[in-house]
Amino acid sequence: MPVFFGSETPEVQGLRPMKTTADELVFFVNGKKVVDKNVDPETTLLAYLRRKLGLCGTKLGCGEGGCGACTVMLSKYDRLQNKIVHFSVNACLAPVCSLHHVAVTTVEGIGSTKTRLHPVQERIAKSHGSQCGFCTPGIVMSMYTLLRNQPEPTIEEIEDAFQGNLCRCTGYRPILQGFRTFARDGGCCGGKGENPNCCMNQKEDHTHLTLSPALFNPEGFMPLDATQEPIFPPELLRLKDTPQKQLRFEGERVTWIQAATLKELLDLKAQHPNVKLVVGNTEIGIEMKFKNKLFPVIVCPAWIPELNAVEHRQEGICFGAACPLISVEKTLAEAVDKLPTHKTEVFRGVLEQLRWFAGKQVKSVASLGGNIITASPISDLNPVFMACGAKMTLVSQGTKRTVRMDHTFFPAYRKTLLKPEEILLSVEIPYSREGEYFSAFKQASRREDDIAKVTCGMRVLFKSGSTEVEELAVCFGGMADRTVSALGTTQRQLSKVWNEELLQDVSASLAKEMCLAPDAPGGMVEFRRTLTLSFFFKFYLTVLQKLGKADLEDKCAKLDPTYASATLLFHKDPPANVQFFQEVPSGQSEEDMVGRPLVHLSATMQASGEAVYCDDMPRHENELSLRLVTSTKAHARIKSIDTSEAQRVPGFVCFVSADDIPGSNVTGIFNDETVFAKDEVTCIGHIIGAVVTDTPEHAQRAAQAVKITYEELPAIITIEDAIKNQSFHGSELKIEKGNLKEGFAEADNIISGEVYIGGQDHFYLETHCTIAIPKGEAGEMELFVSTQNTMKTQSFVAKMLGVPENRILVRVKRMGGGFGGKETRSTLLSTAVALAAHKTGRPVRCMLDRDEDMLITGGRHPFLARYKVGFMNTGKVVALEVDHYSNAGNSQDLSQAIMERALFHMDNCYKIPNIRGTGRLCKTNVSSNTAFRGFGGPQGMLIAEYWMSEVAVTCGLPAEEVRRQNMYEEGDLTHFNQKLEGFTLTRCWEECLASSQYEARRKEVEKFNKENCWKKRGLCIIPTKFGISFTVPFLNQAGALVHVYTDGSVLLTHGGTEMGQGLHTKMIQVASRALNISTSKIHISETSTNTVPNTSPTAASVSTDINGQAVYEACQTILKRLEPFKKKKPSGSWEDWVTDAYLGAVSLSATGFYRTPDLGYSFKTNSGNPFHYFSYGVACSEVEIDCLTGDHKNLRTDIVMDVGSSLNPAIDIGQVEGAFVQGLGLFTLEELHYSPEGSLHTRGPSTYKIPAFGSIPVQFSVSLLRDCPNKKAIYASKAVGEPPLFLAASIFFAIKDAILAARAQHGKDNTSKLFCLDSPATPEKIRNACVNEFTVSGVPDMPKNCKPWCLRI
Ligand SMILES: Cc1cc2nc3c(=O)[nH]c(=O)nc-3n(C[C@H](O)[C@H](O)[C@H](O)COP(=O)(O)OP(=O)(O)OC[C@H]3O[C@@H](n4cnc5c(N)ncnc54)[C@H](O)[C@@H]3O)c2cc1C
Ligand code: FES
Ligand code: FES
Repeated sequence: MPVFFGSETPEVQGLRPMKTTADELVFFVNGKKVVDKNVDPETTLLAYLRRKLGLCGTKLGCGEGGCGACTVMLSKYDRLQNKIVHFSVNACLAPVCSLHHVAVTTVEGIGSTKTRLHPVQERIAKSHGSQCGFCTPGIVMSMYTLLRNQPEPTIEEIEDAFQGNLCRCTGYRPILQGFRTFARDGGCCGGKGENPNCCMNQKEDHTHLTLSPALFNPEGFMPLDATQEPIFPPELLRLKDTPQKQLRFEGERVTWIQAATLKELLDLKAQHPNVKLVVGNTEIGIEMKFKNKLFPVIVCPAWIPELNAVEHRQEGICFGAACPLISVEKTLAEAVDKLPTHKTEVFRGVLEQLRWFAGKQVKSVASLGGNIITASPISDLNPVFMACGAKMTLVSQGTKRTVRMDHTFFPAYRKTLLKPEEILLSVEIPYSREGEYFSAFKQASRREDDIAKVTCGMRVLFKSGSTEVEELAVCFGGMADRTVSALGTTQRQLSKVWNEELLQDVSASLAKEMCLAPDAPGGMVEFRRTLTLSFFFKFYLTVLQKLGKADLEDKCAKLDPTYASATLLFHKDPPANVQFFQEVPSGQSEEDMVGRPLVHLSATMQASGEAVYCDDMPRHENELSLRLVTSTKAHARIKSIDTSEAQRVPGFVCFVSADDIPGSNVTGIFNDETVFAKDEVTCIGHIIGAVVTDTPEHAQRAAQAVKITYEELPAIITIEDAIKNQSFHGSELKIEKGNLKEGFAEADNIISGEVYIGGQDHFYLETHCTIAIPKGEAGEMELFVSTQNTMKTQSFVAKMLGVPENRILVRVKRMGGGFGGKETRSTLLSTAVALAAHKTGRPVRCMLDRDEDMLITGGRHPFLARYKVGFMNTGKVVALEVDHYSNAGNSQDLSQAIMERALFHMDNCYKIPNIRGTGRLCKTNVSSNTAFRGFGGPQGMLIAEYWMSEVAVTCGLPAEEVRRQNMYEEGDLTHFNQKLEGFTLTRCWEECLASSQYEARRKEVEKFNKENCWKKRGLCIIPTKFGISFTVPFLNQAGALVHVYTDGSVLLTHGGTEMGQGLHTKMIQVASRALNISTSKIHISETSTNTVPNTSPTAASVSTDINGQAVYEACQTILKRLEPFKKKKPSGSWEDWVTDAYLGAVSLSATGFYRTPDLGYSFKTNSGNPFHYFSYGVACSEVEIDCLTGDHKNLRTDIVMDVGSSLNPAIDIGQVEGAFVQGLGLFTLEELHYSPEGSLHTRGPSTYKIPAFGSIPVQFSVSLLRDCPNKKAIYASKAVGEPPLFLAASIFFAIKDAILAARAQHGKDNTSKLFCLDSPATPEKIRNACVNEFTVSGVPDMPKNCKPWCLRI
């Protein structure tokens, strides 16, 4: 095999010896020994498990340690601790070479449906904690590792175990609730009064509802028996005392040297200063994968005793630089418990930083030294070490020096004082002294596992017995290109007294010293500068409080009691969750599963890692890998494409482009796209071509080596740009009713304004994936695709290849989430992969990396709305005009239908007599935006609630009263003239008001706000009404195919795809009731174009309604055919009748078809029904904001949702919670950042934050409305996938309510009650809206030719 030495420096070349010297890597996987004589250091454990060992239970979700889908447990003998240790890691970052003599346990190693599930696997499945299941194996392994270390964990330990895991489907509650059954503190005190939030403590029955049966029964769970766990491999245990010797592993481009002694390491460094040290690989791994960096020689010092030692010294605790952060955390926590408080001020600061620092998987391997030497400007530890003056011991061959970390330690961006031949040996973290106080603060977008916007360490030492400053250190991360110390500010405070004057002086001085350029990387300039002052104020108060305790009150200012909560560190409250649903009617047969909380039928296989996703399919022998080549310019002409360097990459097969297309290059829903850009590119991420190679790694290298030159053209990136340039897709859409002029004339008040709602990435855990297999005959091709839309996948591929659709077979087993992102955009990849398979005649596979997926495939449309609303002093709205603009991107895709839905939902639940809504689709040079759960509805409704909240504020009336007053009633006509029938919203509203104890809590919130100056609470109740149907009428059709085999088993197929929403489970429930047989007799294998043709995408929440009806119809046909046999043998069984029918030569296969009746709306005449019916729900949320940092905490949410007669309450509650939490992400967390050039900055979980385990409301109650059968859908059920998402707006408006209280207290007289809060309400927006004395306002003017770091698009 050719060896690529291209980027080696001369210094390291000598270190790359002949392959013959390479050692054997020996490790264990699930108890089996693996010996590899040819291991490549560039291979991660994840790639090794999945591709070499065929263990596909461990998933790839991001490749950057940010999602936890790849979590596995490592066990090794720790020579310093003399014991076996178990810890979880991200297999995507673990180099396989680092695993010599380590035992790896994957999800397959702990249990299986074929033998016995592990209790962890069983409990997550049975508690409905697995929807699409892609995150499940990783979550299982995090829990399993916790239990291996702590068989009886506390609830807090359980929650902490998941800081590094994400799930996009479930909303986390069921996972936590299932796993709390392992907790020693049980999770629920059963009403014993130990937990004030306990669900059983709801003494007053406000809703007159009885508690529902549980969604799962923990009593049936298998017990956890620690003695049954696999043992540590005896062979490795025997090696524990044998001396470790240096190892070398040689790869194609990289050599890995595992140094056994410090001397070996220093010798290597002396001879070759450029070799790269790697310990946890959490930094280097990312540089290699995402920044295209190559380190030809890597030295791993993890075995060296001196680098792992922990020493308790006179002045502090000294940690070897390779100590993993988790053990630093443990040692410091033990010291805090043992030592006097005054000695552990610094340790508590470090612990506070480590508490919010990555997940366990990262902390278990990431080293202390790695964090320091990476010299990241946003390192959380470096400001703390700088503020406390931690001692760094630096060694090289023959030299050793100790320096205190101060402002000189980081001379430039990502640079340290270390000389090239030096390494960091150890770090001594000092004890604090009497009279010394320390705090650390960090503000990020998300509390858990997020990088800081600003992070800091602050220390003050007072002269003995006084409050006069002897030393003051204030150090920040996130305020420059390196960690900085605010020396200018702190030096002038020496000898000053800790009082208000000092505070004022520090604030004024920090505002000047901690300045950021208007184009500073990371943006948020005003917010970051404000945080420096806010943090110091918190430190000031915290010290005052501590001084108060130390009896020095008379010597310093007294702490105002209403200020006290500003000093509180974030604490977790005991969680409490309740779910209410209606039991099936008494007398319903036990076999009839409709209405029962049946577990998702693949949940156990998902939990054991057996469930097969697209990329888990075994590779074909001659299979090739594809990687897309995409544009780096937003708008440009392609001048040239040079693939010569790519061709030199090993394993290169070919480059495919538009020139290879045998059929048509024109594609897209509106035929306004190309499979491959030919002459012009219209967004960054526009697909130009693809390379095809033997492995994904080679494909990545080859794709990076393709050189494209461009001639740049003017680009339009933002909605405002598009409006200015009149750049739109299609023409204006409009709905108008009543007489606006008269409406506004009648109004007592008119307000107008603008609100912006940012986009959202789908972040399904499984990225887009396609395998295309050319059949070699008659143009046939088989595609396995992760898609919600088999029909369009088939037709787009057929058109591109120029073959009839009947030659293309598309198959979907399951998806790891879809949320609309795989409704049309999956075809971008599948069409390209199909072309490569056609060109090479070989199977081709591609699964997008997370960064590609986020860049290329678009997301939810950002919306800008300009509104004008007229209303009476009573709050009654009489006129409304809203102009909606969406950023559609470079093609039309589904944007028009999305805008139509936004217009249909611009009323939310309110009757507005005079109304006009317009919509325009902005044509811009960003990736085309597409369907996303809610499909424009949430944007339309957020705008409605936004002006509604302003109406209430302007009238000075309680918002809930104004909302209620304007609400529709049964029989009303909407603004698009559809009659509201079966209007259950009023019931939902009343029940939610009651169950949330709204009135009482409103008073409590007011009391809290009076008593707390810097923390404010907000409360809000929000209704939703969601129209059910595709608004394109013909899409409301579905088919099903039922085969009954001679043993009585049934193979069911329908047009819908399974993406975690439980559709297949529900369809089996429907078929089971229709055929009157047990669900166990029915199986769904997959969705495919050769079983049910011409299917609509699985979307618009209607899949259960339409496919369920089609399944029902097919079952009826079968039943009719069986009828004579039943009559003949009335006491016979299902199997008897089936056999008889077969012997009677009666067909046991039937199709079913359904189309929704009476649909069709005309924008021209504003008549006809766009929807079959509506789903309703109400949510009440309470939040607490920190007015100084913009942080917020979701305290409580109560939801009442009408899902008709639920087919499956577990699945429906799962959909309600999952949608709500996704909405919570949309409205409060998830923010896409684009550069002014249209480049997406946020391309992975490190920068784009979806809700995590800790983001959900502490108290979370979901109630399915009772006794509300829906006569319009199968078995009286209702659609549920999208409607609940908007209810998360209750959190957004609760935040707005809290900000209002903050502004009322802190704002100057002229602070307006109406203020702008765009969505998402991130800490930045919350903080900026809470104007107070610590707000640094006024970003310095942007100099000419200088652009902001990011734009709102
Ligand atoms: C998902 C995730 C979340 C994260 N969250 C946070 C966070 O919240 N806050 C934060 O501050 N950081 C965070 N990080 C960054 C992470 O903490 C650091 O990357 C980590 O501490 C580096 O340690 P490592 O052992 O993995 O370093 P490696 O990647 O192995 O090495 C990093 C660098 O340090 C050098 N190096 C390592 N040891 C020595 C030594 N003894 N002497 C000289 N050079 C040395 C290496 O040569 C290399 O240049 C996160 C990273 C990930 C992947
Ligand atoms: S795939 Fe490893 S953390 Fe996401
Ligand atoms: S079930 Fe967790 S990501 Fe789908």
